Amino acid sequence: MKRIITYGTFDLLHYGHINLLRRAKALGDYLIVALSTDEFNWNEKHKKTYFTYEQRKQLLESIRYVDLVIPETNWEQKRTDMHEYHIDTFVMGDDWKGKFDFLNDEGVDVVYLPRTPEISTSQIKTDLNHSV
Ligand code: CTP
Repeated sequence: MKRIITYGTFDLLHYGHINLLRRAKALGDYLIVALSTDEFNWNEKHKKTYFTYEQRKQLLESIRYVDLVIPETNWEQKRTDMHEYHIDTFVMGDDWKGKFDFLNDEGVDVVYLPRTPEISTSQIKTDLNHSV
């Protein structure tokens, strides 16, 4: 069984996220999403999410491509996650291209998938701000 992992915030879930999750799952058999907690988003990514961690988790768990959601609480956990969850392939969108190549040292394949054009959580927020 080939195990895949990906990391992210997945706020205001949109079709760019779904595309990413579908292609990630297609690389193997079991997909884990490490979902950034509210504290991690706020303290490290300077993002205030619209949906809480529990709400974002519930949405992700209802997607057929997602097998398990775990919390992402810090930048350092990736190395240990690879072993704890017996990961074969680490996947991210190509906005992170090259940033996680060091995970090759942990014995996993590192794959960057092309982002879906013209959609992002921040774009949705900006567009809604200007829509009325
Ligand atoms: N992603 C993607 N295509 C998009 C948007 C996101 O493939 N159009 C991918 C990202 O590359 C990442 C994952 O989805 O691997 C989660 O991204 P996240 O940062 O949570 O979503 P964004 O929409 O990019 O959010 P933001 O605008 O806040 O950066």
